[in-house]
Amino acid sequence: LTQLRASNKQPDAEGAASGQGTGAWNVLKLLGWMTEFFKQKGLEPARRQAEDLIGAVLELDRLHLYLQFEYVPTPAELARLRDFVQRRGNGEPLAYLVGEQSFAGLKLKVDRRALIPRPETETLAERLIKEFSSRGGLLAADLGTGSGCLALAMAKRLGARVWATDLSSEALSLARENAENLGLGSQVEFLQGPFLEALKGRLPLLDLVVSNPPYIAEEERAGLPKDVVDFEPAQALFAGPDGLRDLTEILAEAPAFLKPGGLLALECGLGQPEKLKEAQQGSWKEVWTEKDGFGVVRFLFCRKAD
Ligand SMILES: C[S@@+](CC[C@H](N)C(=O)[O-])C[C@H]1O[C@@H](n2cnc3c(N)ncnc32)[C@H](O)[C@@H]1O
Repeated sequence: LTQLRASNKQPDAEGAASGQGTGAWNVLKLLGWMTEFFKQKGLEPARRQAEDLIGAVLELDRLHLYLQFEYVPTPAELARLRDFVQRRGNGEPLAYLVGEQSFAGLKLKVDRRALIPRPETETLAERLIKEFSSRGGLLAADLGTGSGCLALAMAKRLGARVWATDLSSEALSLARENAENLGLGSQVEFLQGPFLEALKGRLPLLDLVVSNPPYIAEEERAGLPKDVVDFEPAQALFAGPDGLRDLTEILAEAPAFLKPGGLLALECGLGQPEKLKEAQQGSWKEVWTEKDGFGVVRFLFCRKAD
């Protein structure tokens, strides 16, 4: 980092003095240096993260970055890069630094107002898109919407009308920005309040209720990676002593909001889908679990009786 800091002023001299060879700190040299720095910090994949950060500063996608290896960033660009490298080195998630993330074919703005959408949740979105692709006029709710990822994927890819709730006004402000950026402002309504309670008396019966609620047990806090605990909103993560508080609440309330034959789709923590499946009775015609892309049983699906 000191090399990078000094390089802002005297790239040639510093490069030579640090044994990096002579010449300015061009993209190729920065990539090599940052990759090594991230490796030493145990931040993998190191090269990919270096590429993404340089690409974010220079506003270049990976392909164009590779065509610009000789480019020497301006002092202002180097200063921004130095800040990114320092923050990433301190554990700040890459997505928050880059400020965007792709999700189910959508480009979403992400920042500390909401959880960074995860690949497991993207698997859930794609699964639901497959389930409902031939159905027009879909009515759906997304509970604990965060960045708006699930709600917006349903709206964009399925043409669904979606109601999305969250307790966090900050998350909702980010989700609304994402909806506007994607031209979905009139298709998705964001409401502040507890999961389904915020929707009571406001909408017709739904075809789909989807949620990726908080599901981590409080006692697991100490074992979580630093980038998650120190940077992502705690309200998005924890759900009581066993992590089941919010999932249980949604399972109890969802049938009253669904049409006959409507679907409830939940993302859960390890071991939770099986446990929750065992406990279901009454309202559902069918209850089953499915795996995520890592082969972990991750989702619980419940179909309401006709
Ligand atoms: C695990 S995050 C998921 C965010 C987003 N749906 C995603 O998949 O990336 C859970 C979200 O639920 C929200 N939340 C927590 N408790 C809630 C509650 N009682 N009612 C509504 N939303 C809640 C949090 O603010 C957070 O945005």
